[in-house]
Amino acid sequence: MMRYSLLVLIVLIFGLTNAFNYQFFHLSDVHYSSAVNSQTYNQSTMCIPPALYEEMKKMEVDDHHDIIKSTKSSIFNNTASGLYGRYGCDTNSQLLQSTIQQMKIINPTPDFIIYTGDSVGHSLPQGLWQESQTTFVKTVQSEFSQQDTIFIPSIGNNDVFPDYNSQCSDQNLQYLTTLWSEWIPSDQVQNFSISGSLVFNPVPGLTVISLNTVLYSVKNTNSFQNAQDPCGQFAWLEYQLQVARQNNQYVYIIGHIFPGLDPFYLQTTWKVPFITSFFNILSNYEDVLKSGFFGHIHRDEFRSVFISNFTTGYFPMFIGSSITPVYINNPSVKIFSYEASTANVTDFTAYYADIYISNLLGSMTWKYEYSFVNDYLSTSIGIDGTVLNDFVDVMQANDNIYDAYDDHRTSNYLSDNTVNLCLAQSLTVDSFNDCLNYYATIS
Ligand SMILES: *[C@@H]1O[C@H](CO)[C@@H](O)[C@H](O)[C@H]1NC(C)=O
Ligand SMILES: *[C@@H]1O[C@H](CO)[C@@H](O)[C@H](O)[C@H]1NC(C)=O
Ligand SMILES: *[C@@H]1O[C@H](CO)[C@@H](O)[C@H](O)[C@H]1NC(C)=O
Ligand SMILES: *[C@@H]1O[C@H](CO)[C@@H](O)[C@H](O)[C@H]1NC(C)=O
Ligand SMILES: *[C@@H]1O[C@H](CO)[C@@H](O)[C@H](O)[C@H]1NC(C)=O
Repeated sequence: MMRYSLLVLIVLIFGLTNAFNYQFFHLSDVHYSSAVNSQTYNQSTMCIPPALYEEMKKMEVDDHHDIIKSTKSSIFNNTASGLYGRYGCDTNSQLLQSTIQQMKIINPTPDFIIYTGDSVGHSLPQGLWQESQTTFVKTVQSEFSQQDTIFIPSIGNNDVFPDYNSQCSDQNLQYLTTLWSEWIPSDQVQNFSISGSLVFNPVPGLTVISLNTVLYSVKNTNSFQNAQDPCGQFAWLEYQLQVARQNNQYVYIIGHIFPGLDPFYLQTTWKVPFITSFFNILSNYEDVLKSGFFGHIHRDEFRSVFISNFTTGYFPMFIGSSITPVYINNPSVKIFSYEASTANVTDFTAYYADIYISNLLGSMTWKYEYSFVNDYLSTSIGIDGTVLNDFVDVMQANDNIYDAYDDHRTSNYLSDNTVNLCLAQSLTVDSFNDCLNYYATIS
């Protein structure tokens, strides 16, 4: 009997120590498109059959793509073959498959995967949009079964149809409830179908709250019955934060569109009253809150925004890189390490594939890109809002570090040379302008 208990104990300890490895992936903006054939590239149709391209132009709401296309091209024209993706084109099936295989090489048993949305290509007509959604979900689910790796999705503007059209209890949420059924815990189907929000406890002590931030987008033209709190999602968020506090959990908040400035338009991506409401709620839960994880801009960035009601000052947000090279960037995925007892992020590492090189070599070539601790910090401490804010000062003082950050934004494609310091610190256009003025006066 004693021997048996000892065996149970050993199995238990072994099982527990093996169960978690304190790493999770952040995957974002895959934008898989079944319409993309990267080998039939030309600069005007961007890998889409010409007739379809004409149809798609009518649907485009998100014109980031045109902004970027008009500002640079370089290597662009040169690619020997586009089998492994094309700058300016969305993700094809080779790139989707290769990304998932690479994640399994980096860490085959992450504790969980944060997915910050936008599964399918831009401007697709409904049939191809659905076909691409289905292929994306089937591909991911066949590689990461929910029993083995918890996959935590959030809704992007391209995950509703048409683009940005998210409304409470609508057909899009009904569609996603079915499409994502393997990812949605059965007791949450009802709440998800109202607002599109989800909550997970992927590891002991950590709650991950996934918000449908498309509701708050400046490009969402719907009006809401509850204009202050679309679909009651803020009330739901506050309730979940209370539950987390009661259960001694720390909290990550994830979503597709983040509150802050878009680096291409230099405009806020959420309507300003929603930014205020969001941070007013968060400021009451600083004791449980750790960080935010978002996507949308296809740039590997962070934010450390100053919240006057926060005693700690800054809220950290990690913004995803993208898989799609459509905004003239390389595909990249990030893996985060965290401390089990505090849920503090201790480091994050990006892996990328240079698709120009990959196409020349005839095989997808993923590489280590950088780690925040190795490349930017010399000591390994928790990466919180204050650490990120201090890092903005480091970038300001050191051109090499600034340039490294700028290159990493596009996953080593080219530097955009944008206004990184003020983007990282600002929540609104006013604070952004104040920040620009501040740096102008000290330089
Ligand atoms: C792009 O390709 C399509 C069809 O292959 C063709 O009709 C169109 O003229 C091409 N555009 C350019 C700029 O080459
Ligand atoms: C790419 O090709 C287009 C059309 O041939 C040309 O106008 C443009 O200058 C080229 N861009 C670069 C950077 O070579
Ligand atoms: C659904 O949301 C309500 C609050 O809006 C909450 O009381 C309820 O517990 C939620 N259900 C689940 C399963 O989380
Ligand atoms: C601080 O919090 C209070 C109440 O929670 C709120 O009324 C106020 O607007 C907040 N201030 C800022 C700057 O967010
Ligand atoms: C890590 O988390 C703990 C507990 O929440 C906190 O007290 C500590 O300051 C954090 N460390 C860093 C460097 O963020």
